[in-house]
Amino acid sequence: MAKMIAAITGVAGYVPEYRLTNQELEKIVDTNDEWIRTRTGISERRILKDKEKGTSFMAVQAVKDLLEKTNTLAQDIDLVICATVTPDMHFPDTANLVAYELGIKNAFTYDLSAACSGFLFALETGRRFVESGGYKKVIVIGADKMSTIVDYEDRTTCILFGDGAGAVLLEPTLKENGIKDAILKSDAVGKDFLHMKAGGSLRPPSIETVMSREHFLYQNGKPVFKAAVSGMSGAVKEVLQRNELTKDDITWLVPHQANIRIIESVAHMADFPIERVMVNIQKYGNTTAATIPLCLWDWESQLKRGDKLILTAFGGGYTWGATYLTWAY
Ligand code: UT7
Repeated sequence: MAKMIAAITGVAGYVPEYRLTNQELEKIVDTNDEWIRTRTGISERRILKDKEKGTSFMAVQAVKDLLEKTNTLAQDIDLVICATVTPDMHFPDTANLVAYELGIKNAFTYDLSAACSGFLFALETGRRFVESGGYKKVIVIGADKMSTIVDYEDRTTCILFGDGAGAVLLEPTLKENGIKDAILKSDAVGKDFLHMKAGGSLRPPSIETVMSREHFLYQNGKPVFKAAVSGMSGAVKEVLQRNELTKDDITWLVPHQANIRIIESVAHMADFPIERVMVNIQKYGNTTAATIPLCLWDWESQLKRGDKLILTAFGGGYTWGATYLTWAY
């Protein structure tokens, strides 16, 4: 009997209209377009300017589109998982707020925090719920309003990040195409290099934490860069090997979009031609949990049933991994 697996049966995304260009950043911090483009590959990022709107707003737009394009009724959704490090608030969870806005009443919901690897962690979790047989329609979201935790006085980080949301629908299938394998890892050895220090139970908000700018993201880029290259290329090689695949079998490599040099190094180390690597960092920057679903959204019209994809991410924690799937539609 064929094994039931989980397949992505739809993808949607949302990015805010406002484009924060390198030229505009030149007026805010001591930087320049040439440095940003050559060191990161980024030309512009989208920013949700409206202070009244949080991450859930963007996730709602993406999920609304996802429900429409897949002809799915809100009431039929069983589970909503939202990967984010910029939830609207500590609680209730952002997935709950999204479900409420869209009339998703028969689902349970929760957020998942794994920084830039959040979407892959959430996808694996959603996949396992579907494979359990108890959940038929699962929505997995990756969404972040990074502009709310970026320090626009820190030129080493403010040039990198943007806002956005992406979402996929997962459904069970007895056919061959779907999510096949995932290798996911966590190691808090990276906690000093990439974090947001205050706002949690260890350093709750105080005048002191605000004055010392501890509610902003902090990154020491060099060690993160090195760890990202070795983490992602290692996970890609491992998932290829475990599934007896070579890079020639893979139609698309879908990497987290943190830095074009990281993407190129990962492609090089995995011996993967850059023409088959999804890259949209130039227009969105690093949208944290949203980068991978936004790539799938941008490339959806080019994807064909049976295409073999490897998704790979690396982020704060550290967290990292790679997922192997075949496209189902
Ligand atoms: O998504 C989560 C994971 N995150 C990542 O994967 C990001 C990993 N790290 C990176 O992408 C890179 O390390 C950065 C883009 C953050 C920095 O690039 P880098 O090549 O590592 O630059 P650097 O930090 O070594 O800085 C080189 C120089 C320094 O000047 P000095 O000390 O050589 O005089 C910096 O002060 O560039 C300077 N610099 C800048 N100059 C103009 C740093 N930021 C800027 C800037 N504009 N925005």
